[in-house]
Amino acid sequence: MNIAVYPGSFDPITNGHLDIIERASKIFDKVIVACAINPSKKPLFTIEEKMDLIKEATKNIPNVEVSSFSGLLVDFCKEHEAKVAIKGLRALTDFEYEFQMALMNKRLAEDVETMFLMTRAEHSFISSSTVKDLVLFNASPEGLVPPCVIEPLKNKIAEKRKASNGQ
Ligand code: COA
Repeated sequence: MNIAVYPGSFDPITNGHLDIIERASKIFDKVIVACAINPSKKPLFTIEEKMDLIKEATKNIPNVEVSSFSGLLVDFCKEHEAKVAIKGLRALTDFEYEFQMALMNKRLAEDVETMFLMTRAEHSFISSSTVKDLVLFNASPEGLVPPCVIEPLKNKIAEKRKASNGQ
């Protein structure tokens, strides 16, 4: 079975991520979307919330599984018998960072390949942070995130606003 892992922070999942997942699911028998547990990033959503949103957004893609990891990506790949880590590339600025990560991962695990899928032009400007900023400034994230993300995102930002007003 050809298994690929698609790792990321997914705080929250965007239409850019979803597009990469859909395309990868047509190439591989199974795609494991791996949500990174990275406390230094101060996420808006908890890991469980992020995973639930990814599950909901990908519920119509039968060969997608959602998981989480906290160690090295290559160790997660090996544990799940995945020979490929999928990354989405948006622009030149992504390339330098991703190139460095791919080389480091290659050094750590010769048998895990990094495969890049170019993002669609219409998603090239989307990131989880810009989507959060939009909502923070009362603009609609519609068309940028899967529909199931819109309400939880608005609620989270409202909670955050309330908490910072209360300080
Ligand atoms: N469409 C839209 N947005 C995208 C995207 C796409 N196709 N691809 C990436 N992005 C956005 C993400 O939303 C994220 O936005 P944000 O910074 O506003 O949150 C940003 O681009 C960076 O995404 P990504 O490259 O996936 O990084 P990440 O921080 O989400 O995840 C890991 C990085 C988890 C994959 C990486 O740190 C990792 O592998 N960690 C494990 C430790 C390890 O093995 N390190 C390597 C050896 S040292």
